Amino acid sequence: MGSELIYRGHETQTTAVTYSPKPAKPWLRMTRPIRYLLREQRLVFVIVGIAIATIIFTLLPSSSSKHGPIYDPMTQYGMIGTSFETVPRRVRIDERIMSTGKVPLGLKRKGMRIVVTGGAGFVGSHLVDRLIARGDSVIVVDNFFTGRKENVMHHFNNPRFELIRHDVVEPLLLEVDQIYHLACPASPVHYKFNPVKTIKTNVVGTLNMLGLAKRVGARFLLSSTSEVYGDPLQHPQVETYWGNVNPIGVRSCYDEGKRTAETLTMDYHRGAGVEVRIARIFNTYGPRMCIDDGRVVSNFVAQALRKEAMTVYGDGKQTRSFQFVSDLVEGLMRLMEGEHVGPFNLGNPGEFTMLELAEVVQQTIDPNAKIEFRPNTEDDPHKRKPDITKAKDLLGWEPKISLQNGLPLMVNDFRQRIFGDHKEGGATANAS
Ligand SMILES: NC(=O)c1ccc[n+]([C@@H]2O[C@H](COP(=O)([O-])OP(=O)(O)OC[C@H]3O[C@@H](n4cnc5c(N)ncnc54)[C@H](O)[C@@H]3O)[C@@H](O)[C@H]2O)c1
Repeated sequence: MGSELIYRGHETQTTAVTYSPKPAKPWLRMTRPIRYLLREQRLVFVIVGIAIATIIFTLLPSSSSKHGPIYDPMTQYGMIGTSFETVPRRVRIDERIMSTGKVPLGLKRKGMRIVVTGGAGFVGSHLVDRLIARGDSVIVVDNFFTGRKENVMHHFNNPRFELIRHDVVEPLLLEVDQIYHLACPASPVHYKFNPVKTIKTNVVGTLNMLGLAKRVGARFLLSSTSEVYGDPLQHPQVETYWGNVNPIGVRSCYDEGKRTAETLTMDYHRGAGVEVRIARIFNTYGPRMCIDDGRVVSNFVAQALRKEAMTVYGDGKQTRSFQFVSDLVEGLMRLMEGEHVGPFNLGNPGEFTMLELAEVVQQTIDPNAKIEFRPNTEDDPHKRKPDITKAKDLLGWEPKISLQNGLPLMVNDFRQRIFGDHKEGGATANAS
């Protein structure tokens, strides 16, 4: 008698072979779904369903307009009627989407995740407004050395906005698509306060952010400065000019810090393939600037509002160019979205002597405002004026707002902050 464990599968196999059903025709199997769809008017139901979904999708307002107002610097600051003529196509589409509240089929862009270091500062907070209005998610990284929560507070209930108190000198890991690296005190009063910290912010902070860009494959934009030209021997300054900077002066922590930051940016680009952009920013002014920060426009405006004499250093014949902050933000965004690494000068080529600037402030605030002359500070450049041909040609960008139009918008903001904050305690607002 054989064991129960003997394999008998071959017996069943032999019997299975004897059964041979008629093979199914392959073309019949393929047309089965089509025949199913054509039966009992199912196709009509499908078409009607698609039509209803399309109508609902087109008529319902886009949810992206729910959070964060549409940012228009002209209307925000009361300058309706001026338009940006050369806005990039993608931004125009976004604005159309946001202004009509409808999403044209196939046109809605995916919002990006963007870090703005120094996003609670003057320029950074205006940039954040634009990015949020465009539909992006923004993470502000700031140590609040010169930045203020008040500058970004209006985004606090927006789920697309995050604020991290962090010093860029320490490493940080985030998953992002783009990094706008603005963190650095920009005014002489602040960057001279702790020069070693300033150069650390520019060198170690930039290294950390470039390292992050490399790790997560993000595009990186460095906000450099016209100070890299030092006291220029070439006028106006073109991007190819290498500058005339004192490496051991009191401004060197900032000037040389930014020059090193540019070097690091290019080395990460060439050596590690990081996508980078470099903006050389010239004097910028506008609402939310720090009051009493030693920058000439904010100094003059605050002094004239307080009925103090406007301090002019030296003979007042040194020149500067002043761009309104919304022009700068437009330039930064075009640079980030464009194809060119740079560096690009972003500034307003309109050139003013300090005395001419004082006159515009007198016209705007108080015709009787006095001027007081003081000895000039060390290493103060005599002339500064950007050549913006490169930005015009390659980014299609140029500033739109004149000093006469921009200054009143800043004066309104300063008036509110100085007199609003000074009513009781008399403390200097925001002179951190
Ligand atoms: N405003 C101008 O005229 C001008 C001109 C040239 C260049 N820039 C550059 O633009 C950028 C922004 O300038 P701004 O005028 O808005 O200055 P700002 O001082 O108003 O803003 C700088 C921001 O960076 C933050 N910050 C400073 N050090 C930091 C650190 N170690 N870690 C994290 N956050 C830090 C500050 O708290 C602040 O919010 C700066 O990089 C500046 O060098 C500005």
